[in-house]
Amino acid sequence: MGLLDKFRRMNNRVCPWWLCHSFDNPLRRLFHEPERLLAPYVKTGMTAVDIGCGMGYFTIGLARLAGPEGKVIAVDLQQKMLDALARRARRAGLADRIVLHRCRKNSLGVDGPADFVLVFWMAHEVPDKSRFFREIAALLKPGGRMLLAEPKFHVAKKSFTRTLAACGEAGFRIVKEPAIFLSRAALLERD
Ligand SMILES: C[S@@+](CC[C@H](N)C(=O)[O-])C[C@H]1O[C@@H](n2cnc3c(N)ncnc32)[C@H](O)[C@@H]1O
Repeated sequence: MGLLDKFRRMNNRVCPWWLCHSFDNPLRRLFHEPERLLAPYVKTGMTAVDIGCGMGYFTIGLARLAGPEGKVIAVDLQQKMLDALARRARRAGLADRIVLHRCRKNSLGVDGPADFVLVFWMAHEVPDKSRFFREIAALLKPGGRMLLAEPKFHVAKKSFTRTLAACGEAGFRIVKEPAIFLSRAALLERD
């Protein structure tokens, strides 16, 4: 296997649960403040889906923004991530607004309709992006939005452009490219 293939494989590898603390920690709030970052997109009563939620760094903020009438479906491949999120949600008194869903690598298996989907620092771990974004488009309401953010230190501009092309083929159009620290990001809307 060539060096490039090894790098690609590393890039597509699912983030192990123990690595999560390296980016899911109180310091991160200095540059990714969940509620401030997501408030323009999530309003009271909405259904939001946090795909690749990890230990729930953004899920808790989404649940606060969705309010008691709304809900958040938190989706991850790894049970350990969902277990950590369940503890966090209980501590925050928000467990009743958060539905935990363990998905499979190539199938989200989430029922819509949803108003908003967050795909933060995880799409590079998904092997079949075309299928992934088609599934997200199918669970969003028409006009529903997705915020996609990829880590700059991990995902090259060219690769992000390819990911955006997969979004376009799935029926999304780019609304804007918000500035998010350390990230390549796009806000997309479903047809
Ligand atoms: C780098 S972490 C990001 C977690 C969180 N979004 C954040 O920003 O703190 C990526 C997460 O995506 C999950 N993941 C990877 N591939 C996935 C897939 N195909 N479907 C759902 N979750 C996936 C991993 O298990 C991991 O929890």
